[in-house]
Amino acid sequence: MVEAFAVASGKGGTGKTTTTMALGMALAEEYDVTVIDADTGMANVLFHAGLAAVETTLHDVLAGKATVEEAVYDRFGMTVVPCGTSLSGFKEAEPERLRDVVATLAAETDIILLDSPATLGSRSAVLPIVLADRLIVVVQPTIPSLSDAMKVQEYATTYGTGVAGVLFNRVTDDAAIDDIAPKAERYFEGETLSTVAESETVRAARRAGEPLLAYAPDSPAAEAYRQAAASLSVQARDAGTVADRFRSAVIPDEL
Ligand SMILES: Nc1ncnc2c1ncn2[C@@H]1O[C@H](COP(=O)(O)OP(=O)(O)O)[C@@H](O)[C@H]1O
Ligand SMILES: [Mg+2]
Repeated sequence: MVEAFAVASGKGGTGKTTTTMALGMALAEEYDVTVIDADTGMANVLFHAGLAAVETTLHDVLAGKATVEEAVYDRFGMTVVPCGTSLSGFKEAEPERLRDVVATLAAETDIILLDSPATLGSRSAVLPIVLADRLIVVVQPTIPSLSDAMKVQEYATTYGTGVAGVLFNRVTDDAAIDDIAPKAERYFEGETLSTVAESETVRAARRAGEPLLAYAPDSPAAEAYRQAAASLSVQARDAGTVADRFRSAVIPDEL
């Protein structure tokens, strides 16, 4: 069984990569989890997973220079496929190849988390959203962040991608979130998965090159991510069917 989630947002810096790694570790307690850095232009999973020095990354696979297996690393109880950070690597990568990468990995795992680019600005940026079964939307509780995320949801649903839920991150005002979360539920298809506070611990984990759940497993933020994982009802799909769907996914010609 497998389900592929795109961890997405409208804006950058909402905490998609942080969330991908934290949620991934929480889900890995029950499931076989594969994290793919599908933000191939602004990759940073490698900095969150202690993989900054690795030789082979998704860029090499997307450029046809390496096999998927060569870019796969076992870290923190998950299978992690990091992406390189060079501009030349991004230019050489053929985004369409992501379909085969996801299809290949789908055979071996229960959950695929695609750390996704922030904007709808290019074909490579929308690909993870088009490929995924459902979105996990990471938002900050501000009107611009919510507005941008709703646009991502609208785009995703036109391609048949559902919404698993919304995760509020970097929350500084508990009273405001109590007001905003119920309103957001009216506009987003999924439920509110969790609310993660703005916290120095989260920043420190990134600086240490570790996912939050490895760096500070007992922190309130880690607990919030475990709660998000528990709220997520993973839908088992036949791996072969999912792989076929990825391989044959139609990539939009334009936005
Ligand atoms: N809850 C939080 N509290 C404090 N800092 C956070 C939190 N979530 C993310 N950050 C920090 O914000 C920055 C952007 O997070 P990141 O996960 O890389 O966002 P994105 O992938 O959406 O661009 C990082 O430096 C990260 O450590
Ligand atoms: Mg990121």
